[in-house]
Amino acid sequence: MSKMWSGRFEEESSSLLDKFNASIPFDKKLYKEDIQGSIAHATMLGEVGILLKEDSLKVIDALKQVEKEIEKGEFDFQISDEDIHMAIEKRITEIAGDVGKRLHTARSRNDQVATDFRLFVQNKSKELSKQILELIDALLDIAEKHTETLIPGMTHLQHAQPTNFGYHLIAYVSMFRRDYLRFIDSIKRNSVSPLGCAALAGTPHNIDRIRTANLLGFDEVSQNCLDTVSDRDFALEILFNISTLFVHISRLSEELILWSSYEFGFVTFSDAYSTGSSIMPQKKNPDVAELLRAKSGRVNGNLISLLTVMKGLPLAYNKDMQEDKEGVFDSVETAEISLEILTESLKTLKINSEKMEKATEVGHLTATDLADYLVKQGVPFREAHFITGEAVAKAETLGVDLSKIEFSELQKIDSRIEEDVIPTLSLRNSMNSRNSFGGTASKETKRQISDFRNWRIRCTSE
Ligand code: ARG
Repeated sequence: MSKMWSGRFEEESSSLLDKFNASIPFDKKLYKEDIQGSIAHATMLGEVGILLKEDSLKVIDALKQVEKEIEKGEFDFQISDEDIHMAIEKRITEIAGDVGKRLHTARSRNDQVATDFRLFVQNKSKELSKQILELIDALLDIAEKHTETLIPGMTHLQHAQPTNFGYHLIAYVSMFRRDYLRFIDSIKRNSVSPLGCAALAGTPHNIDRIRTANLLGFDEVSQNCLDTVSDRDFALEILFNISTLFVHISRLSEELILWSSYEFGFVTFSDAYSTGSSIMPQKKNPDVAELLRAKSGRVNGNLISLLTVMKGLPLAYNKDMQEDKEGVFDSVETAEISLEILTESLKTLKINSEKMEKATEVGHLTATDLADYLVKQGVPFREAHFITGEAVAKAETLGVDLSKIEFSELQKIDSRIEEDVIPTLSLRNSMNSRNSFGGTASKETKRQISDFRNWRIRCTSE
């Protein structure tokens, strides 16, 4: 069958070329945006008089019919139609007759695909940002219940200082809030309409780009058509936003995997979100968290792939850019299901507070507190650090944690350690003593939770 662009060709294209060249197997996902863009274009063409009013209406009706056909699964997608844009245009001409052939006046597939894809990315960014807020809510709910639950704060995966579990979760809330804001920033920045840029240099027709931008919900119209048809920054942004989101998801997943092991035992995944082993009957595996950790690799691949496709392309549109879609679709789908399952598995996660508290009783978590105590007694910090090291060594020999050591043992090491050191060595006091803004003290953690809650309320009402 001859192509829409076959005017200058003498031979039919090979079926191998059709298969290689076509994007319809994947860009049919953009049918809604394509129809939305075409309705806006046809409306504007009718308003400015490039199309007769009744022709514009006929085309719009046909577009609506095509949408229904696709939704009911009645649309015949043909590889020879090349892409979703030509498939829809062909069908509206079948439905509305020759007037369908006028729809492509003053546009090109280059501005059309830029518009469709941008609309898709904008919509998905909005949906993902909402899902991130739900994840934040789930974390805040758990954090709120555990502002008094002691947990070893770690650096280098070694016991460092006592913190509380709520505080630990608020670290993740902070990360996901940044992710949310990154999506929102991108949505604002990319609210720019490409429609009407035509192939690369604009059009001689008297079109109204502001009108189509308004109809499509874009805040502004792009300035330079040459840039617009070759710009995929918006696609790179959503890929980067998703990759960064997964840096955070994978870090949380890693901790959940560690915490659910026998060695930690801090959390237990509900049966609904755990898996078994085909050979070891006793096993309950954290597959969900492991897969979430792994998805990071996949979305990073999609980002690197598009960065590489776009690098060094001459202006303006090049067919290379057809490779922009599948990676974005994949990253978006990956993020959608991952956010959903992470949120659900957190909601049903069992927190083993006793195990967490028990774990703080090893590793001499209050050593820094003893050093700080000595500093308050007038000892220079370097010396205080050394004396505390000796105290830790003593505790090790005695087989006790520094938080439990007898005061008399400490005094033998340095007479400047007096009886009032005892509360300093308590794990809970230590946690609550770090009450500087952003610190771990229960009261300060509660302040952080309340500030995040207030921010959340503002997000929903905006
Ligand atoms: N299927 C193409 C894409 O996804 C649409 C744009 C085609 N433009 C062209 N000049 N061949 O990029």
